[in-house]
Amino acid sequence: MTDRLKSKNVVLGVCGGIAAYKSAELLRLLIKQGAAVRVFMTRNAQQFVGWMTFQALSGVPVCSDLFEKGDVASFKHIDWAAEADIVVVAPATANIIGKMANGIADDALSTFMTVVRSPAMVCPSMNANMFQNPAVQRNIKTLADDGILIVEPSAGDLACGTVGPGRLPEPEQILDRVIACLTPKDLRDKRVLVTAGPTREPIDPVRFVSNPSTGKMGYAVARAAEQRGASVTLITGPSELPVPATVTAIHVTTAEEMARAVLECAETSEIVIKTAAVSDYRPTRVAEQKLKKGEDQISLQLEKTDDILMQLGRKKQGKVLVGFAAETEDLNQNARQKLEGKNLDIIVGNLIGNPASGFASDTNQVTLFFRDGTQEVLPEMEKDAVAHILLNRIAERLLPAGEQPVGQ
Ligand code: CTP
Repeated sequence: MTDRLKSKNVVLGVCGGIAAYKSAELLRLLIKQGAAVRVFMTRNAQQFVGWMTFQALSGVPVCSDLFEKGDVASFKHIDWAAEADIVVVAPATANIIGKMANGIADDALSTFMTVVRSPAMVCPSMNANMFQNPAVQRNIKTLADDGILIVEPSAGDLACGTVGPGRLPEPEQILDRVIACLTPKDLRDKRVLVTAGPTREPIDPVRFVSNPSTGKMGYAVARAAEQRGASVTLITGPSELPVPATVTAIHVTTAEEMARAVLECAETSEIVIKTAAVSDYRPTRVAEQKLKKGEDQISLQLEKTDDILMQLGRKKQGKVLVGFAAETEDLNQNARQKLEGKNLDIIVGNLIGNPASGFASDTNQVTLFFRDGTQEVLPEMEKDAVAHILLNRIAERLLPAGEQPVGQ
């Protein structure tokens, strides 16, 4: 549980499309974030997934008919709308989009949508030709003009055998947009530069020196800053992770490429957060052809790479500078040394070795070391939660007064 949606009421509208199965996972993720979720399902949605799945996951009876016998609360469409903090329709078919765009209320979900006053998000998902149909596009535009947030479908192979736009984004991506919609924008207009992932230093065309960083921590920081309204650039070494929505990503491979990109982007950034695990050394010579097996023992000569954060610290110019330090021993001493040596405002230190805290893990147990000599030990938590707490501390301690931190 990371609690980004604690005490929030979410209404999930599920329509009749193959992607309805993904909504069950979205529901689970919303609940994991602390939301209370109520579900409307259309009659057609139940051809794809049974109502019991959604009822069991939400703990609340699913509504698909406002005139169900024995249901005294036939005002669900009014009560649930009044209590909702956000409404998410996923998957949204051409049918519900058409009805919403034209104010048609002829079943439980469409009737409910005419009553909603909270933010509403529509996630279209359908066959690519249907999605590109001019009437459907016109209706989507009408919804956007009416202030409804449209989560664009992704492109690719669709279940119907066609290729093109129409695929429901992954539940994690929809969850991210829900959190972004409900998160106060305390970093609005701030330009935040985040680095993530490992670097790779080539030995020959098929081998390199690197480390096990996956980029999870840096991507979490980039996502959290974007959710809070910042304009985010993510400079990332090789990583399998999807770039968070609206974040500008610059992909690099070596420490030298990362240094070039960071030094250029830092000029226009107010906050720089360096989670990247940059190689400290690179092979002195890169072989042009694949090295062949020969001697029993060979040695690799390495030379130092530039310390990017150290260079930024030398010409800080009012920027907020944050580093990360993964240590195997003497965390406090090593972290403090780096904080001072690199002229940082905060360094986030963690001891690696514990499977729940370190490179590939979804969680981390860190200590924040501040410039004024204080420190804050955080319990083990999801990397997303670490990211938000770090941004809270930056907003509280380092940004001009009046910038209010979010939660925690
Ligand atoms: N860092 C950097 N450039 C480097 C090495 C590190 O910008 N060439 C940054 C990292 O992104 C991180 C911080 O410095 O934010 C600390 O990185 P770390 O590897 O822990 O520190 P080092 O100074 O390399 O010290 P050591 O490897 O000896 O622990």
